Amino acid sequence: MYKLFFRLVFRWMDPEQAHHLAFRWIRLAARIPVLRTFVAAVLAPRHRELRTEALGLRMHGPFGLAAGFDKNAVAIDGMAMLGFDHVEIGTVTGEPQPGNPKKRLFRLVGDRALINRMGFNNDGSRAVAARLASRTPVFRTVVGVNIGKTKVVPEAEAVGDYVKSAERLAPYADYLVVNVSSPNTPGLRNLQATEALRPLLSAVREAADRVVTTRRVPLLVKIAPDLADEDVDAVADLAVELGLDGIIATNTTIAREGLGLTSPPALVQETGGLSGAPLKARSLEVLRRLYARVGDRITLVGVGGIETAEDAWQRILAGATLVQGYSAFIYQGPFWGRAIHKGLAARLRQSPYATLADAVGADVRTNS
Ligand SMILES: Cc1cc2nc3c(=O)[nH]c(=O)nc-3n(C[C@H](O)[C@H](O)[C@H](O)COP(=O)(O)O)c2cc1C
Repeated sequence: MYKLFFRLVFRWMDPEQAHHLAFRWIRLAARIPVLRTFVAAVLAPRHRELRTEALGLRMHGPFGLAAGFDKNAVAIDGMAMLGFDHVEIGTVTGEPQPGNPKKRLFRLVGDRALINRMGFNNDGSRAVAARLASRTPVFRTVVGVNIGKTKVVPEAEAVGDYVKSAERLAPYADYLVVNVSSPNTPGLRNLQATEALRPLLSAVREAADRVVTTRRVPLLVKIAPDLADEDVDAVADLAVELGLDGIIATNTTIAREGLGLTSPPALVQETGGLSGAPLKARSLEVLRRLYARVGDRITLVGVGGIETAEDAWQRILAGATLVQGYSAFIYQGPFWGRAIHKGLAARLRQSPYATLADAVGADVRTNS
């Protein structure tokens, strides 16, 4: 149904406009009690065996919405209604900003991929914090808050900008993510170098602890698939050293590998981060590497090119306790979450593992 609708309607619309339209429908449905209960019952059925504990939080399952879809925390319940077991909002920056000029989002339909150079368009940390503060949740869902650097803030002052966001948003975050891996903010990814990352993560940790004294807000870092393997190892070691709670692997890539011949060259050459199917192999590889390095000491979140339950299962076997997705949602539509849950539950039942937690990293453990 959705695929037909996509082919007939969304495909011919500007991708960003289609996003806003779909987003409006989701928010509207979530505001009508009878409708949202019905939609959630159909699209987000609970599977007992998928219950997950991660980052000290209890979730209905391991599958969440990756950052960038709900940048301003306006549709958390709508996304939970569609079956996302956690919703990562953001990236939120210290100050509000419009992002890059349009057009900045491109569909590579034949490759089941997207290229975006949104550039962190968002309402800023103050407005998003106020929105989260006034929210009355309908569905019990875990809310992650992903923070990044305001574009006009120079790299040398990045720490202060992240700290500002952390101070404002940590009180409303079930977990906090330091995003240093978007390719669309100049210089951002330089913050992945350990000399820059160590003071940044320490300062954000300190800020979160200062403003939230009743619990420890889990802190994660999100990394790029374009890091060299040694740099992935360096971030992993740093995360262990600093007592970080998790690593999210991966963000979009600036590489253009894994594309077929179906997408027009002009599209492929658009500047920005590539996501979706072509990212699958590298994201899985980075995850595997991280798990081999950190094992169970740190929670790993697998994201990048997940389209099917089998993809999600492979990430779990490679070491991910949680998995996330974005691009496949655009192509597969509202039944996507349901399919992932159903397939994951079936795979777990057919596997030798008693629980999902037992399956985490099983492939890497047996191969090492
Ligand atoms: C349009 C778009 C906007 C995104 N914005 C953000 C963002 O603001 N912050 C972030 O950490 N990741 C952002 N991402 C990256 C996704 O969270 C995810 O890491 C990436 O798309 C790989 O997953 P996927 O292949 O399932 O899409 C964005 C991705 C897309 C497609």
